[in-house]
Amino acid sequence: MQDRNTTPAGNLVDAENGIVSREIFVDRDIFAREQEQIFARAWLMIGHESLIPEPDDYFVSRMGTDSVILTRNKQGEIFVFLNSCMHRGMKLCRYDQGSAPVFTCPYHGWSYSTDRKRVDRPGALVGVPRYQECYEGVLDRSEWGLVRCPKVVNYKGTIWASWDPDAPSLEDYLGDMRLYLDAALDHRDGREGGSIVLGTVQKWRVKCNWKFAPENFIGDLYHDISHRSADLSGIGPSGGKGRRDAQRPRLAIGFTDLGHGVLGDLPHTAEPELLPTHQDDPELVAYHQQMHDDRSRNLGNRKRVTMSVGTIFPNMSFHARQPRTIAVAHPISATEMEMWRYYLIDADAPPKVKDAAMRYYLRYSGPAGMTESDDMENWTYASEATAGHISRRHHYNYQLSLGQERPVEGLRGAVESGSYSEGNARIFYRRWGQFMDAAGWADMTPEAATPERVDAD
Ligand code: FES
Ligand SMILES: [Fe+2]
Repeated sequence: MQDRNTTPAGNLVDAENGIVSREIFVDRDIFAREQEQIFARAWLMIGHESLIPEPDDYFVSRMGTDSVILTRNKQGEIFVFLNSCMHRGMKLCRYDQGSAPVFTCPYHGWSYSTDRKRVDRPGALVGVPRYQECYEGVLDRSEWGLVRCPKVVNYKGTIWASWDPDAPSLEDYLGDMRLYLDAALDHRDGREGGSIVLGTVQKWRVKCNWKFAPENFIGDLYHDISHRSADLSGIGPSGGKGRRDAQRPRLAIGFTDLGHGVLGDLPHTAEPELLPTHQDDPELVAYHQQMHDDRSRNLGNRKRVTMSVGTIFPNMSFHARQPRTIAVAHPISATEMEMWRYYLIDADAPPKVKDAAMRYYLRYSGPAGMTESDDMENWTYASEATAGHISRRHHYNYQLSLGQERPVEGLRGAVESGSYSEGNARIFYRRWGQFMDAAGWADMTPEAATPERVDAD
């Protein structure tokens, strides 16, 4: 394998043998190419409907290196626009979130509306200072509306967007990985959806390439050793040993054609026994027991999973149970990313349950969370020690449990490779290579994939 940052990506990623060039974590040209090939095409999770509950609410998010505005108009429709004024590029919304009946640029005062009663095309330019005096007959306002993202989907409260009009449906993009995502988004009593973001979104910068985060959450149980101090402290909901309450064994399950993966349990059709939680508080114990019983009844013999931590390609990761959160790794530069944590809770959970969850989430996650700070330390130092002149000539190793992939019954295109495995990382980087090389989606279908790929059958 060559170690220069030339295309095709096959020169950088040898997923079959578990070898990846360090250049993809530090090189500026590769980072720029990722923006075009991955972030301008893939489905990206950009927000949650509970962050814009009322008409005219907005939430500023990111898609790759671009700032975008997620907003709800007076009619309740949700849109995503580039957060850049069409006159001279000013950042239209500079607050993280808020409410605005009209988006007015602070620079020269152009304004844009989403109100269907006022405009045919949401995001249209409706106000131009000194229009009659200086622009009449010159500026065609209908051509200078905000850039609108063509594909936006609300999936159980989470908002997903893609810049590519030819992108497959979100449903096809997720495939059977949906079962695991649902375990994070659905109500604890088994009903569909129902989760909201608790508080707001925590954001912080980490001096490492964005891929460190999704690679970690896709199934790196092997790095557990670095959380030893958090484990010894005992930060789980019940305060016992470990970072969580007791959990069932989990397997690395990856979706070979899609690039997604989880460390989770296999699908089952009966509700497994409730694992004890919040044992120090009878009220919370009773609540969780009630949710468990309702869930067993509501789901009946339908397929379900419970525990998982996983990644949806490229940069969205989630914990489905403890803690119950979403983590998005936004690319900033080749060696810097911005982590966003959304903390999820059922909208109708009692205040005491929400409060207990919040305390646990913050012990675990975020810049001051005991577990997350371990991860940040690993990623930052790994990044720094990778970027050196000599260092970057070498490769990373992903050979843990190489060749141990076995098909998973009941999940399309899925393989499992045991608990301690880098099989999911290999799947992630193979998908990364496909995106980097492909001219379009047709080149990334299972039929177009190279014959030596790991196959489920
Ligand atoms: S940059 Fe927005 S009005 Fe000039
Ligand atoms: Fe970790």
